[in-house]
Amino acid sequence: MARVVVVSNRVAVPSSDGGVRAGGLEVVLRSFLKRNQGVWFGWSGRTVAKGEEKVRTVEQGGVTYITTDLSRIDHQEYYNGFANRMLWPILHYRLDLAEFSSRDMAGYLRVNELFADRLKKFLKPDDIIWVHDYHLLPLAKALRERGVENKIGFFLHIPFPPPELLTCLPKHERVILGLCHYDLVGFQTDGDADNFAHYLTKECLMPSRDSRTFIAGTRMVRLGAFPVGIEMTEFERLGRRTSRLAFAREVVSSLADRTMIIGVDRLDYSKGLGLRMRAFEHFLSEHPRWRGAVTYLQITPRSRSDIREYAEMERRISETVGRVNGRYGEASWTPIRYVNRPYSRSVLAGLYRSSRAALVTPLRDGMNLVAKEYVAAQDAEDPGVLILSRFAGAAVECQAALLVNPYDQEAVAAAIHEALSMPLDERRARHGALIKVLSENDVKHWGERFVTTLTQPAGAPSAPLQPIDNSATYLAAAE
Ligand code: ADP
Ligand code: F6P
Repeated sequence: MARVVVVSNRVAVPSSDGGVRAGGLEVVLRSFLKRNQGVWFGWSGRTVAKGEEKVRTVEQGGVTYITTDLSRIDHQEYYNGFANRMLWPILHYRLDLAEFSSRDMAGYLRVNELFADRLKKFLKPDDIIWVHDYHLLPLAKALRERGVENKIGFFLHIPFPPPELLTCLPKHERVILGLCHYDLVGFQTDGDADNFAHYLTKECLMPSRDSRTFIAGTRMVRLGAFPVGIEMTEFERLGRRTSRLAFAREVVSSLADRTMIIGVDRLDYSKGLGLRMRAFEHFLSEHPRWRGAVTYLQITPRSRSDIREYAEMERRISETVGRVNGRYGEASWTPIRYVNRPYSRSVLAGLYRSSRAALVTPLRDGMNLVAKEYVAAQDAEDPGVLILSRFAGAAVECQAALLVNPYDQEAVAAAIHEALSMPLDERRARHGALIKVLSENDVKHWGERFVTTLTQPAGAPSAPLQPIDNSATYLAAAE
């Protein structure tokens, strides 16, 4: 197979301290490259003075890691600004949190050009290029403008909203239509792919060959749903080792026979943490018999703390935890244990397996790997129950979970009660159904399916490709 060059903002360069960072993208790409041994290109994680940016190459385990520093101003406008204060909220259906600045948009486009310049030097003619996530929507366009004709695929890890929301992004076509320079654009769910198809059809009046193949000027772009999976057997194995893990044993013994519920999320407003805690509070108020008998452990490493909305949310969540613990806690029992730090995969697997239920209630999420990891780590003989937001991409596969509307605190509280009271037979049946569906689509299958689809010929177009009427006007506006 040709060499695969993976491109993403974050790159998990192996470090001597073996440090862990939370984030789905790094977890799945690390696993993909472990198997496929290509190149991983992206930001080094360092910001430096303008003109002092360095490009570094590290070879390890058959993978070549190539990273570039960013200047402080580039990082501010591209990452903190346009990617995380404009695209992230809009793509997560949060128009109320979006802050547009044309300066940030210019910085975002500039950094994409800079990535293209630096990446091009390392490319070979038959490389397959696979670009990831919302930081790099226009990268293919920048590469094409530099003469790169390789197959280029794109995968969006986060949701893609309907055109009614997307078009609130000022000058949306300059960024979103850049996706038409890829050969294949992958989404987490069919719903996300449909939303992009509607955008191209209704907003950009772009002609299509079928519902998943569009004709963008002289190019053809294919869309598809490629739900991301996890390393199922690895999590099952780590889960089985729990009893041998000193840390998990220590946590369990500190519970003093209480039942544990777990939540594991980056500290992000899309994860619905505030509403989740209020739902837990509602549960305690409605079911007094569980007071003192259940502990909710919420593991939440800080994320993007330089951004105002994140810092404000962090303060609000801490206040909510304090209020619930103050109201219901006892000297001998803390209802919510709240920790802001990362843990290794084996510790997470051990904590998942020791929890009777997992609360995974994002307000909107591309997929949510934690939901899948929780299922994989359970003891099949005595499994815990997954309480999952219907607005997470994972809900499409995880129909056997207790699906909830995260905005409905009463319903989430009722689901917590149902999970804690669920008979063993029902827990086993739900878990078996979840394991079956998740095993059919693990991370290996996801990567292979995407790359195979990207390398397959799209099929000859039925007519010569020509720019057509309104879509051509739109494409010109996107230049
Ligand atoms: P996102 O990509 O939005 O952060 P996901 O649930 O899809 O959300 O992926 C999060 C990934 O990060 C999971 O693989 C999870 O195990 C990992 N993770 C989350 N919290 C922690 C933590 N405290 N320590 C280590 N890894 C974490
Ligand atoms: O899944 C969304 C995502 O942006 C991933 O790309 C990344 O792994 C995670 O969130 C962490 O975000 P950041 O790279 O901004 O710390």
